[in-house]
Amino acid sequence: METNRRSFLKLSGLAGFGLITGCTAQEKETSGTKLDHIRLEASKKYNSIFNMSGYAAPKIETVRVGFIGVGNRGSAAVERMSQIAGVSIHGICDIRPEKAHEAKERIKTSGHVATIYAKTGEDWKRMCESDQFDLIYIATHWSMHADMAIYAMEHGKHVALEIPAAITVEDCWRLVRTSEATKKHCVMLENCCYDYFELLTLNLARQGFFGDIIHCEGAYIHDIMDSLFDEKKRYDFWRLKENAARNGNLYPTHGLGPICQILRINRGNKMDYMNSMSSKDFMLNSKAKEMAQVDKQFESYVDKPFRGNINVSNIMNSDGSTMMLQHDVSSPRPYSRIHLVSGTKAFAQKYPLPGKIAIGHDDFLGATEMAELEKKYAPGIITKIGELAKAIGGHGGMDFMMDWRLIDCLRNGLPVDMDVYDAASWSVIGPLSEWSVANGSQPIEIPDFTNGLWKDNLVHDINLTKGGTTQVLKSTK
Ligand SMILES: NC(=O)c1ccc[n+]([C@@H]2O[C@H](COP(=O)([O-])OP(=O)(O)OC[C@H]3O[C@@H](n4cnc5c(N)ncnc54)[C@H](O)[C@@H]3O)[C@@H](O)[C@H]2O)c1
Repeated sequence: METNRRSFLKLSGLAGFGLITGCTAQEKETSGTKLDHIRLEASKKYNSIFNMSGYAAPKIETVRVGFIGVGNRGSAAVERMSQIAGVSIHGICDIRPEKAHEAKERIKTSGHVATIYAKTGEDWKRMCESDQFDLIYIATHWSMHADMAIYAMEHGKHVALEIPAAITVEDCWRLVRTSEATKKHCVMLENCCYDYFELLTLNLARQGFFGDIIHCEGAYIHDIMDSLFDEKKRYDFWRLKENAARNGNLYPTHGLGPICQILRINRGNKMDYMNSMSSKDFMLNSKAKEMAQVDKQFESYVDKPFRGNINVSNIMNSDGSTMMLQHDVSSPRPYSRIHLVSGTKAFAQKYPLPGKIAIGHDDFLGATEMAELEKKYAPGIITKIGELAKAIGGHGGMDFMMDWRLIDCLRNGLPVDMDVYDAASWSVIGPLSEWSVANGSQPIEIPDFTNGLWKDNLVHDINLTKGGTTQVLKSTK
C-alpha cells in the first residue's frame, strides 16, 4: 500500500483536472483535501488559450539551434543537425563540460560556431534567456524535460525535446498551457513516427487500405538491462533510478506515437480512457543484488521498488477503436515495437522484422507485392528524403528525417508534424499507467489536452505538399 500511496500522491496532479475515476476509499480518505485543492486549481487552467494544432509560426530563414544535454543521444543530434542547410548551431550545453566539448568536436569541420554553456547545472537557463537562439533542442534525462522546455518557450524559443516530454500529468498540462500562451512550438522528438514501415502504414491508413481501423498495438521492448547499470551509458544512472522508483509504462511514446497518428488521435479522434497492469519484477532487484556484490555503489538500489518486467496498457478511443501498449526493458527477448494495425479490410505488423501486410485472413503478401505496395503508397516525405536520410543514418534514417522535417517546417513557416498536444497525450500514458498499476489496474480517463478541438484539428502533411525546400549538406565526417 505504501507504493500505492506514494504513486497516488505523486500523481495527484491529475486528480485536479477531475480525471481520476475509481480511487479506492482509502486513497480518498488520505488525500481528499489535496484532491479538492488541485481540482480547484485545475479548473482555472482548463480553458484553451490558443490552438497550437495546425499553427504556422513565422518563417525562420536560418534556424539558430541550442542543444541542452549532449550525452549519447544529444551529441548524435548535434552532428545530424549540422548536415541540414539553414541550421546554425549556436550553442551546446551540458552539465559535464567534457561532453559539451566532445559534441562541439563532432562538428568542427562544418563551420558552426557554437558557444559552450557548461559552467554550472543551471547554464541551460542562460542559453534559453539569450536572444541568439530560435530553437532549443533538449536531450537530458526525463525529469528535466518539462522544466527546460517551459523555460525555453517562456523565453521565446521553439522547443524540440526528447521522449517522453514529461513524466507527470501536471507537467503535461504545463507544457500545453505554455506552448499555447507563448505560441511557441513544443515538438516531442518521437523518431519512430518517421520510420519507413510506420510511415507506409500511416499512408495506407489514410488512403483507406485498412478500412476502418479496429485495433492497433505498439510497444517498447528492448533489453537494456546491462546498460542500466553502466554509468558510461547514462549520466548519473538516471534511467536506473527511474526504473527503481516508478512502476508502469515508463517509455510509452515509441510504440504509441505511430499508432496514434494512424488513428488520428487529437485530429478527429481522441484517447478516452485506459487501464494498465504490470508483472512483478523478476529481474532488476536480482541484478542490483548481483551488482552490489562487486560494486558498493549499487547497494543503495537493493530492494528498491523496481517496476515490473512487463507492463501492458489498454486504451479505449472515442471512435470505438482500441490500442494495446507494452513496455519491457529488462527481459531477455528480441527488440520489438510491435506496430500492429488491424482494420476491417487489411492487417499490418512490423515485428518480428520484416514488416508484413495481409489482406483478409490468407497469408501475408509476398516480397513482390510488398514492393509494389511500397512503390504505390510511400508518402512524399519518404520519396523526397528517405534515401538521403538512410545514408546519413540515425536509427536507419528516421532520426535524420525527423530533424530535417522539423527544420524544414520552421524555415517554411509550416505547422509542425507533432505538436504539443501529441507530446502531452503520448507522454501522459506514463504517469496514468503508474496510477492504474498502483490502483489494481482500474481504468482512468485520459485528459483531452486539446479541450475539444480534436474534433476539427487536421492530420499532418506526410506528402510535403508545402515546403520540402531545405537542402541536405554533405557529411561532416
Ligand atoms: N528517441 C530515441 O530513439 C532515443 C534514444 C536514446 C535516448 N533518448 C532520449 O534522450 C534523452 C537522453 O538520453 P541519453 O541516453 O542521451 O542520456 P545521457 O545521460 O547520455 O544524456 C543526458 C545528458 O544530459 C546532461 N545533463 C544532465 N543534467 C544537465 C543539466 N542540468 N544541464 C545540462 N545538461 C545536463 C548529462 O550530462 C548528459 O550528457 C532521454 O530523454 C532519452 O529518453 C531517445
